[in-house]
Amino acid sequence: MYSAGGLEDLRPYGARSVNRWSSYNELCRIPGTKSSIASLMHSRDSVSSGRSRPVPDRYAGVGQPRGRALVILGPIVALIAAAAALGVAAIGQDGYRAETLIAATIVAFVALFLAVILLYRQVRRRQATGRALQNIEARVTDIVESAMDPVIAVDQDQRVVLFNAAAEKAFLWPRAAVLGEPLDKLMPERFREGHRAHIARFGEAGMTSRRMGSQMVLMALRADGVEFPIEASISQHTEDGNKLFTVILRDITERVRAESLLARNEARLRGILDSAMDAIITIDETQHIVLFNAAAEAMFGCPREEAIGAPLAWFIPERFRAAHASHVRGFGETGTASRRMGTLRIVIGLRRSGEEFPIDASISQVTDRGSKFFTVILRDVTARVRAEEALSRSREELRELGATAHQAREQENSRIARELHDELAQSLTALQMDVAWCKERLPDEQKALAKKLERMETLLDTTVTATRRMAADLRPLMLDDLGLLPAVEWLVDNFTERTGVPCELAVSTSDLKLHNAHATAVFRIIQESLANIAKHARASRAEVAIEDNGSEVTISVRDDGLGFSPHDPRKPNSFGLAGLRERAYLLGGEAAIISAPGRGTNIEVRLPVAPMPFSQ
Ligand SMILES: Nc1ncnc2c1ncn2[C@@H]1O[C@H](COP(=O)(O)OP(=O)(O)O)[C@@H](O)[C@H]1O
Ligand SMILES: [Mg+2]
Repeated sequence: MYSAGGLEDLRPYGARSVNRWSSYNELCRIPGTKSSIASLMHSRDSVSSGRSRPVPDRYAGVGQPRGRALVILGPIVALIAAAAALGVAAIGQDGYRAETLIAATIVAFVALFLAVILLYRQVRRRQATGRALQNIEARVTDIVESAMDPVIAVDQDQRVVLFNAAAEKAFLWPRAAVLGEPLDKLMPERFREGHRAHIARFGEAGMTSRRMGSQMVLMALRADGVEFPIEASISQHTEDGNKLFTVILRDITERVRAESLLARNEARLRGILDSAMDAIITIDETQHIVLFNAAAEAMFGCPREEAIGAPLAWFIPERFRAAHASHVRGFGETGTASRRMGTLRIVIGLRRSGEEFPIDASISQVTDRGSKFFTVILRDVTARVRAEEALSRSREELRELGATAHQAREQENSRIARELHDELAQSLTALQMDVAWCKERLPDEQKALAKKLERMETLLDTTVTATRRMAADLRPLMLDDLGLLPAVEWLVDNFTERTGVPCELAVSTSDLKLHNAHATAVFRIIQESLANIAKHARASRAEVAIEDNGSEVTISVRDDGLGFSPHDPRKPNSFGLAGLRERAYLLGGEAAIISAPGRGTNIEVRLPVAPMPFSQ
């Protein structure tokens, strides 16, 4: 229990400089102050041991000077007793009285001298010890004052007797407003009862110190009414029969905020991971799973609880496991942050049901506190692979269909051309000869008949020419009869003849032997390109080049005409260039149409060719 005056006395204790203290003794008069400091010196360390270290001996001596006093006073008392005895003897003595008196006086002086010296030394020693204590107390006070953590001491009635600078800052109370007040002032209403009981129990337990609120977050109350979370340790000691408790606490607002932020972030990340359409799996360096999202659960048919901690190999078909493990290790060594897996081949996954399925995967790595983690993002591409297969199958079918259609058309053209040439043209020629025969035998007076026959002859001539041209346009028989090169030569000559535009033909080989389908394609491509030049280019010259390197034949038809934009949408009913492209595609080749307005046109087609067997 303290009087108001006693609490006022505590104030200098908080001062930083020792000079501002009233005196050491004054400090010592305040119950518990000295012990509070001593207990503060080790309350933190002793949390685990639960026991305080004793205060060093040299300070313990200050409080018990009885033994030393006995040593000092003994000889002096003896000397005074001796002087008194001599004095008494001198009074009762007749002879040597003066000598005895002198001796008693000398002994008394010696005793006095000794007493003065000893007293002086005693005072000096006390002063030195006092100073040493003052120094150590000042140091401890400095430590308490400059401590980052709030330090609060309360007495048995849980009234505050110590409140350091950090506490002032944390609670926003000035020291004077708190000292002597109940500790309740510093905590929210709802905790007061529990805390009171807690401290009382701690006092009864007889433990020196312990951590508070290890199970839950403690809350403290600031002057402005705001609550904040704290972490605290408490120690106790007894001073003159009174229990004193010292609490060191820490404002953990920031930590709690960071922790809840972390928890929120983790929850958000979890949410993102689980809402991802792709399976996301993280493995550690030993290729064991540490993260497995909802999509992965669905994809592999395995609950997260089973997957976490399992080897990744669970989800890879046996025959790929070794290669995959070394692939991941190799990736770890490259230090590349991320990359797509299996760009050249499809990665295969294994469901818990034993079913295998194709996967598209990318892998990334991070190093977290010295350990490497790999994250794989997986997509089940079964549907895509199936669609791709179906697409390429239908493309193949289309290609075959197209090729067959072309072939059928060429055959039909060829048949009609032959019919025209062999049947119609021959018959017409025979008719021409018959008309000529009739003309020869016609009597001279039959003028009208002769005129009729002449008109018939002319008509037959143009019909034969037209028939020949039609047959050649359908399919020049020389393509089948003489081969590709003479047919191309005929095309080029025919072009110049019809348009008057000079055209150069450059062939890299004298002996161009191609399969029938290829020969037809080359012929048709050149035919269409020259027809376009005649129709659209208004060129001054043209050039046809054929190059055969054994594995690929390249056809190039260029002109120096108007040119056009090949990327413009196709004109309706313009199928020439489209057909040209299709022909190239059907034979596994490609066509490039290089043109720009005012810069001429170059049609370049590449066709892969299989070497021709000798028999063909
Ligand atoms: N050599 C060329 N010079 C200029 N324009 C061309 C040439 N070849 C093609 N074109 C342009 O490309 C268009 C498409 O050609 P094409 O597919 O053969 O159809 P069509 O010849 O029936 O018009 C032509 O209408 C023309 O405008
Ligand atoms: Mg055309």
